[in-house]
Amino acid sequence: MSTTHTISSLEAVSAAQEKFIALEDQFGAHNYHPIPVVLEKGEGIYVYDVDGKRYFDFLSGYSAVNQGHCHPAIIKTLQEQAAKLTLTSRAFHNNLLGEYEKYITGFFGYDKVLPMNTGVEGGETAIKLARRWGYQVKGIPENKAKIIFAEGNFWGRTLAAISSSTDPSSYYGFGPYMPGFGIVPYNDLVALEKVFQDETVAAFMVEPIQGEAGVVIPDHGYLQGVSALCKQYHVLLIADEIQTGLARTGKMLACDHEQVRPDILILGKALSGGTLPISAVLADDEIMLQIKPGEHGSTYGGNPLACAVAMTSLEVLRSENMADNAEKMGALLRSEIEKLNSPLIKLVRGKGLLNAIVINHPDPEVSWELCLHLRDLGLLAKPTHGDKIRFAPPLIINKEQILEAVQIIETALTRLNQ
Ligand SMILES: Cc1ncc(COP(=O)(O)O)c(C=O)c1O
Repeated sequence: MSTTHTISSLEAVSAAQEKFIALEDQFGAHNYHPIPVVLEKGEGIYVYDVDGKRYFDFLSGYSAVNQGHCHPAIIKTLQEQAAKLTLTSRAFHNNLLGEYEKYITGFFGYDKVLPMNTGVEGGETAIKLARRWGYQVKGIPENKAKIIFAEGNFWGRTLAAISSSTDPSSYYGFGPYMPGFGIVPYNDLVALEKVFQDETVAAFMVEPIQGEAGVVIPDHGYLQGVSALCKQYHVLLIADEIQTGLARTGKMLACDHEQVRPDILILGKALSGGTLPISAVLADDEIMLQIKPGEHGSTYGGNPLACAVAMTSLEVLRSENMADNAEKMGALLRSEIEKLNSPLIKLVRGKGLLNAIVINHPDPEVSWELCLHLRDLGLLAKPTHGDKIRFAPPLIINKEQILEAVQIIETALTRLNQ
């Protein structure tokens, strides 16, 4: 297992795929290390490579494709609206923005929404809102507001996002960093209460489950505890539900597992079912109205194409009961993997269909190699942080498909052991 020779032969792809990979390598920045496979089509829970081979998609575009690839209702909305009006900018009104704002605020129960594009812009927006609230409402002295993050967080790649990162591969070599950020250990209410003694703390931004860190699930009660401390110390709770939200963990929001209502909610990824970058920041008036015209925005934020697509994406999640299916299929997936009793799997963890296995081997090449075996057998997944592999298929997966996927995982583990 895991010699350089076996890895390189495993990495082999067809001549057709090699050509596409070589093009990327020559003309694209080398800021990613993809599993060697070249995809050209997606349908439901499956993706197809340029040679026509079918794969289970067990990453779902990092949980952007919760509704399944090319969901017919989302694609229909996308095509119809694309043929009519795509972008006005916010210099003018459009006939869908208000309707979308009413829809999404009603859906999640907030006074207002601020539409953006990528997830990381959602995070930046939430932090700007929290700082502004800190000055205008909490009375923090100018330029002194602090935002607290949890160790192991991931919310993107902008300078602010990497300034709050505790992962050297995110931040190293990109300084100087954004001031006014603090870090506490994840899942540690005592540490959080300690930093909240500082009256310049405006907000705590946290993922209800840490996705990129390898699906790290805090103790039940943590979110309730965070919410209570935030209220007690007049600190805003910002929930980054960009990866955990939108039915992925078996509830519409991961915060719903503990009946917690964040002060600021950030959504992205599956808000478009994987078709467009659409993010949204939701909050009540006391927070949202602190930002005035001209103080924040984005050319594409709130464009009519995004508004139409986001409404259908949410509607599909609700009308097709995807949260319930995620809950049931996630439980089945975890129990079937546990039953394999593989010495190579140290741990299976997850909630709904946001799951990860932790590989019982310190060499990250082993996880990589397992993903190559999975690819050869028709299932796509990718390691995160060396020894963890996320299993997060689209939420429309059924029982037979889960069982077939687990068989593939079993065969891949056997091959890895040979
Ligand atoms: C929890 C979380 N927040 C924010 C982001 C950033 O989203 P985007 O890549 O769309 O900027 C990610 C991306 O993986 C994420 O997992």
